[in-house]
Formats: sequence, structure tokens, C-alpha cells
Amino acid sequence: MSAIFVGNDVVDLGEPRTEGRAADDRFVDRVFDPEERVAIRGASDGDLELWARWAAKETGFKVISKLLGAPPLFVHRAFKVEWTDTVDPEESDASAVVRRGRVTYEGLEARVVVRLCPGAVHAVGFGAPGGPPERVSLHRHLAPLDDPDRPWAGPLEALEMQLSERERDAVYSLHSAAVRLGARADLARALAVGEERLEIVCDPGPTGQRPPRVFLDGERAAADVSLSHDGRWIAWVLWTDHQTENR
Ligand SMILES: CC(C)(COP(=O)(O)OP(=O)(O)OC[C@H]1O[C@@H](n2cnc3c(N)ncnc32)[C@H](O)[C@@H]1OP(=O)(O)O)[C@@H](O)C(=O)NCCC(=O)NCCS
Repeated sequence: MSAIFVGNDVVDLGEPRTEGRAADDRFVDRVFDPEERVAIRGASDGDLELWARWAAKETGFKVISKLLGAPPLFVHRAFKVEWTDTVDPEESDASAVVRRGRVTYEGLEARVVVRLCPGAVHAVGFGAPGGPPERVSLHRHLAPLDDPDRPWAGPLEALEMQLSERERDAVYSLHSAAVRLGARADLARALAVGEERLEIVCDPGPTGQRPPRVFLDGERAAADVSLSHDGRWIAWVLWTDHQTENR
């Protein structure tokens, strides 16, 4: 069983739907609470503020789904984002942190870190049953689906053949298969075990209500994984009980 639960969410800033959304009042009013709306409308880059908060909420939902054991209904507004730290992107390097903070939902908390990467916003988060620890060492990865050096190259059928039957059960697209292969290869490295011993299996249920879990030799491992994909990007974050890399 995992002692730490992780979440992540990528937003492809190359998708036309992401542009100018801070000026889309209906969307902003539906997704964000009054304080968040003020923050978005008063921000120097409203779209960045909006997508950073969106990615944080989705990340928080993924962490809190696992803390609860069963996903709650996802109403974005009910997942409250509070920043503890904001950094002007012009003062930061490519793929550097632009926001840090927390997402809370009915007394539960996930810590989140948001990066602005070239072409994407990527949020990573973690939580634990007794509340999130101050610091946790995580491994995060953001990659283009068409990366030439990818271990996930090929058509969907070829990728599916590399997944177990239990893993394939939740796969419905090229992105969905690719992100599992990328994350599983990384898990094998982090746990120092053969990849054939690992599986990333989603809980039963409808799409969006199926947190992924890590299995080693058919048993739940002391590790956690979160998957995300949007547009041209796939992304994942890992926690293992002998993680060495820092986020
Ligand atoms: C879960 C959710 C936030 C995912 O966000 P998304 O931007 O659509 O998709 P992402 O690519 O970022 O994440 C998808 C991955 O999250 C993981 N995931 C799915 N449900 C999850 C959950 N409840 N908790 C943690 N992780 C979950 C899966 O690994 C999934 O990968 P897959 O689609 O390849 O199986 C979204 O599907 C959602 O809103 N679900 C809630 C549905 C709901 O509550 N509906 C009620 C209507 S009010």
C-alpha cells in the first residue's frame, strides 16, 4: 500500500480552447469560486492564472480520490485552490515553478506545485492519510506523445500488446496506452525491478472515476502513480518508498 498519494494534470497550451478563456465569464463562473474569480480577473496573465488553478484542481481531485478510497463527484468549484507562492514566469526558467499551494476539499488537503513548461502547464501534487508531509520526493515527467526517443512509439494495437489484460482494461486511446508505458518504465527504474513484474491497474468504474494503482508481482506495491494526457502531451508523476530523485 502507498503511504503517499500523488496526482498530476497537464494542460496543452497549444490547444485553441485554452486561449482567452479568462475572458469567458460563463466558464470562469462555473469552475471557480468568487475569490478565485477575483484572482483570475486581476492577474497580469489571466489565462495562466486560470490554467494553473484548473490543473491544480484536477491534481487535487486525483489525490483526494485516492485519500477517500472512492472518487467523489468532481465539481471543480468544490476543490479550493490557495497559493502559498507565486513566481512571475518572466523571472523563471523554462519548466520552472510558477505556483505552489494547496487544494482542499471537505477537510482533506493536497499540496500542489505548478510549472509553466514550453507549450504546457503541468501540476503535480501529493497527499497522505494524516495530511500531507512538508516535503516529499517525487519523480515527474512531461513528454510529447511524438517524442522520437519514446518507448511508446507505434500504433495503439502494438502498444496494447505491451500491456497486461488488467492494464488494458482502462485503455481507450493512443495517449492512454502511451502514458502507461512511459510511467511503467519509469517505475521499473525507480523500484529497480524488471518492468515485466509491474502493472498499472485502474480501479473498476466509469472513465474519470478510476484511480490508477501500482502492482508488483500481482500485489499492491509501496508506490503510487498518476497519469495525465492532453493534446500533444503525456505526463505522469511517481512516488515510491525508496525514491531518490527530487521534484
Ligand atoms: C479524472 C479527471 C479529473 C481526469 O481529467 P482529464 O483532464 O479528463 O484527464 P487526464 O488525462 O488529466 O487524466 C486521466 C487519468 O486520470 C486517472 N484517473 C481517472 N480517474 C481518476 C480519479 N478519480 N483519481 C485519480 N486518477 C484518476 C486515470 O489514470 C486517467 O488516465 P486514463 O484516462 O488514460 O485512464 C476527469 O475525468 C473527471 O472530471 N472525472 C470526474 C468525473 C465525475 O466526477 N463526474 C461526475 C459529474 S459531476
